[in-house]
Amino acid sequence: MKFLVRGGKKLSGEIDVMGAKNSVLKAMAASVLFDGVVNITNVPLIEDVFRMRELLSDIGAEVREEKRKLSISTDKLRGDTLKKSVSERLRASIVLAGPILARQGKVFFPYPGGCVIGKRPIDVFLDGWRAMGAHIKETSEGFEIKAKKLRGTDYFFRVVSVTGTETLIMTAALAEGKTVLRNAALEPEVSALADFLNRAGVKIRGAGTPTIEIDGTGGRLLKATEPFRVMPDRIEAGSFLILGAVLGKGIRINHCNPEHIMALISALHDAGVEVKIGEDWVETKKPDRFSPVNIKTREYPGFPTDLQAPFAVLLTQAQGESIIFESIFEGRLGYVEELKRMGAKIVPCDPHRVIIAGPTELQGREIETPDLRAGLAFVIAALLAKGKSVIGNVYQIDRGYERIDERLRKLGADIERIE
Ligand code: EPU
Repeated sequence: MKFLVRGGKKLSGEIDVMGAKNSVLKAMAASVLFDGVVNITNVPLIEDVFRMRELLSDIGAEVREEKRKLSISTDKLRGDTLKKSVSERLRASIVLAGPILARQGKVFFPYPGGCVIGKRPIDVFLDGWRAMGAHIKETSEGFEIKAKKLRGTDYFFRVVSVTGTETLIMTAALAEGKTVLRNAALEPEVSALADFLNRAGVKIRGAGTPTIEIDGTGGRLLKATEPFRVMPDRIEAGSFLILGAVLGKGIRINHCNPEHIMALISALHDAGVEVKIGEDWVETKKPDRFSPVNIKTREYPGFPTDLQAPFAVLLTQAQGESIIFESIFEGRLGYVEELKRMGAKIVPCDPHRVIIAGPTELQGREIETPDLRAGLAFVIAALLAKGKSVIGNVYQIDRGYERIDERLRKLGADIERIE
């Protein structure tokens, strides 16, 4: 599957933001900690959600979907092994290992996959589980983890890890006694997960701060009282904002949480882009000129690594030199070569930094997307470029953005899906 894009058209109108990929996947994984049905609403119908559903079904969970509502029952859970063919494709599969370990006392998971954005080690997950009393055996296929009883622990994260924090919160939820997680991730998706578990009877304090305390239930399963409503996807909202800044005659982005994208809004402001902010919407349009901006990706609330590639496309239009410093993943500048083929002037400095000189007129090309977030950056670049582009490896884009071609067409974009 490919996207055929004819660039150069100005865009206008309104677009709704879907539920957050990186929140719904964790809520789905958390369903393993529950007795009875867990309902999740505002679910984005994206490939990663379908893969997580496959993983859950494969271990005996019953998963139904109707009108963006998922109902998951894990009452007949039987397996403790994550399906290899799926977890190889989905890095987030690792978050399911924590709840399975907590509930079943053992879990086997194959080496995880996901985006090709550099080494993505799992040492903090393994260390954390060990600290809670688990035994880990590494085989040629993956990891076998067993724990007769998980007990609370005091754990310091060597690196700030989003999925690491979420996974250990979920594991600690059913452990015996209190767990303290230090140097925890501050992302809003972490707080959303903690709120959900709190409402179901776990006592979690400090989510959204670097120190999180969890009083485990000692093995008692949780009871869902109300549905988990998936928060708006801040990366999708941010990407649409960048699109509006480079091509918009006036684009309004609805159903988002502007508070979650303040780092981007501030960088856009520095670039000379005006953003109007409402309670659950933002609005922007293309300015007469863009100023260069230096950005460094950081953990939340800093500039998100997931918006780095789309922002690089905007910087190709700035009058002067900008520096991008990708501090989270060393493989996340892999898209640069393709962007250069489209005419961008980008000089790599080291594996983490590039200099972008602008403004440059981008030309349509045949390009292959290396990962999900670079995929949307290429869509933005192709819409901006002169002429026709063909973007390959669309599965990567469909992993995180629902029917993106159809939704962008409503703004006036010339994009179609071809075989
Ligand atoms: N790290 C380790 N050891 C570990 C875990 C992480 O060294 O055991 C390192 C990583 O290599 C990286 C840094 O810690 O250098 C931070 O990685 P983190 O663990 O926070 O990333 P993640 O949890 O795997 C999540 C999102 C990513 C997003 C990052 C950063 C999910 C499913 N994924 O990944 O989203 O880029 O946080 O915000 O929540 C995406 O949606 O396209 C995506 C890649």
